[in-house]
Amino acid sequence: MSLSGTATRYGRLAQAFHWLTALLVLIAFLVSAGGPPERVYSAARAPTLLLHESLGFTVFCLLVIRLVWRRFDRIPDAPAMPAWMEVASKATHWALYALLFAVPATAMVGTLFGGHPVTVYGLGAIGPFSGTWGAPLAEIHGTLGDIMMWLAGLHAAAAIFHHVFLRDRVLSQMLPGLPDPSSGQGG
Ligand code: HEM
Ligand code: HEM
Repeated sequence: MSLSGTATRYGRLAQAFHWLTALLVLIAFLVSAGGPPERVYSAARAPTLLLHESLGFTVFCLLVIRLVWRRFDRIPDAPAMPAWMEVASKATHWALYALLFAVPATAMVGTLFGGHPVTVYGLGAIGPFSGTWGAPLAEIHGTLGDIMMWLAGLHAAAAIFHHVFLRDRVLSQMLPGLPDPSSGQGG
C-alpha cells in the first residue's frame, strides 16, 4: 500500500497521523492537571506539565501537517450506509479536527496570557505576556479537552460497531492489517 489512500482505504501516512495523534492525545489527557494555579504550576508537577504541554504542542503540529497532506491525499469513499449516518460520521470527524485545533490553541494562548510561560520539549520558554483573560481560557481548554475525549470515545465505539455489527470496511480502512469484513480482503 502506498503513502496515499485509495477509494477503499486510508493511505499509510493518513493512518500514521491518525494513530499517532490518538496516542499522544490520550497520554496528554492522562497526565493533565487542573485545579488551582498553585497546583498546576507547582514545582512537584513541573515535569508532568512539561510532558503535557510538549505532547499537546506536538498534536498541534501534527494537525497542521496532516491537514496539508489531506489536501493532496485520496480520502476513501464512505461504504454504503444510511445518509444520516454518513452525515453524523463526517460531522464527528470535523468536530474532532476542530477540537484538535481548539484544545492546544486555547491552552497555549490561555497559558501565555494567564501569566505563565509555555515550555515545550524543555528547550526554553515562550512568554508570558500580560493579560487578564488567560486563566478563564485555560479553564475552557480543560473542558474542551474533556469534550474531545468523550467525542473520541463515541467515535471509536462507532468504528467498532461498524466493524462488528454492520460488517463494513469503516474500521479496516483506517487500521493497518485489519481485513475488510465485507470483502474478506486484508491489507
Ligand atoms: C491534545 C492536547 C491536549 C489535551 C487533550 C489536554 C487536556 C487537558 C485537560 C483535560 C486539562 C484539565 C485537567 C483537569 O481539569 O483535571 C488540561 C489542563 C491544562 N493544560 Fe492541557 N491538553 C492538551 C494540550 C495542552 C497544551 C498544548 C498546553 C500548552 C500550553 C496545555 C496546558 C495545560 C494547562 C496549563 C492546564 C491547566 C489549566 C488550568 O486549569 O489552569 N495543554 N489539559
Ligand atoms: C483522540 C482520539 C482520536 C481522534 C482525535 C480521532 C480523529 C479522527 C479524525 C479527525 C478522523 C477523520 C479522518 C479524515 O477523514 O481525515 C478519524 C477517522 C477514523 N477514526 Fe479516529 N480518532 C481518534 C481515535 C480513534 C479510535 C480509538 C478509533 C478506533 C477504535 C478510531 C477509528 C477511526 C476510523 C475507523 C476512522 C475512519 C472513519 C471513516 O472512514 O469513516 N479513531 N479519526
